[in-house]
Amino acid sequence: MTTPDRDHDQPDLRPRPVSESETTLAQLMLLTDANPAGNVHGGTIMKLVDTAGGIAASRHAQRRVVTVMMDSMTFLHPVYVGDLLMLHARLTWTGRTSMEVEVVVEAEHVPTGRVTQTSIAYLVYVALDEAGRPTPVPPLLVQTDEERRRWAAAEARRAHRLTQRARADEPPA
Ligand SMILES: CC(C)(COP(=O)(O)OP(=O)(O)OC[C@H]1O[C@@H](n2cnc3c(N)ncnc32)[C@H](O)[C@@H]1OP(=O)(O)O)[C@@H](O)C(=O)NCCC(=O)NCCS
Repeated sequence: MTTPDRDHDQPDLRPRPVSESETTLAQLMLLTDANPAGNVHGGTIMKLVDTAGGIAASRHAQRRVVTVMMDSMTFLHPVYVGDLLMLHARLTWTGRTSMEVEVVVEAEHVPTGRVTQTSIAYLVYVALDEAGRPTPVPPLLVQTDEERRRWAAAEARRAHRLTQRARADEPPA
């Protein structure tokens, strides 16, 4: 099967629904993922969150993407060695060149099938053209009340991030 080389195609900027880029990543947690306390290292989970989010963003943009911001990552419960970690990523919002992705992390205790939601994170990705410059992404088609609610919440987070960014750009007093 030949896949289009999107980096050399004109981007398809027609609106795309959330479902077209939704991504689930699953990985069994091994001893090599453990921290000194014996639970899974937070950094291992953050890396997988970024990977799952990046796949969803790249699927939506049909471009390569970079992470520009990762915030609001909450660790609600520990993850244990032997758990199956499942990362569900979906777009919540698109701007001109940036996209917000929500990643929900669940841990399955495989022998019992018990599933616990352990984390939720929000990340912003930017699509890049062949020259590595930010490039437009297709608008996100929000179709359900839940998707509209997520969009509104994402807009509030974006306003906060841009305020933080502007403050960080201010020269020191
Ligand atoms: C991502 C990058 C290309 C953006 O460059 P830039 O000069 O800030 O570009 P712009 O100002 O045009 O911003 C591009 C988009 O990112 C958004 N953005 C930039 N910084 C942001 C922040 N802190 N929070 C939220 N959005 C941000 C802008 O609002 C803009 O979105 P829009 O086009 O939807 O309105 C640049 O910051 C970069 O290369 N960063 C390093 C990325 C990286 O290495 N990531 C880790 C490995 S993947």
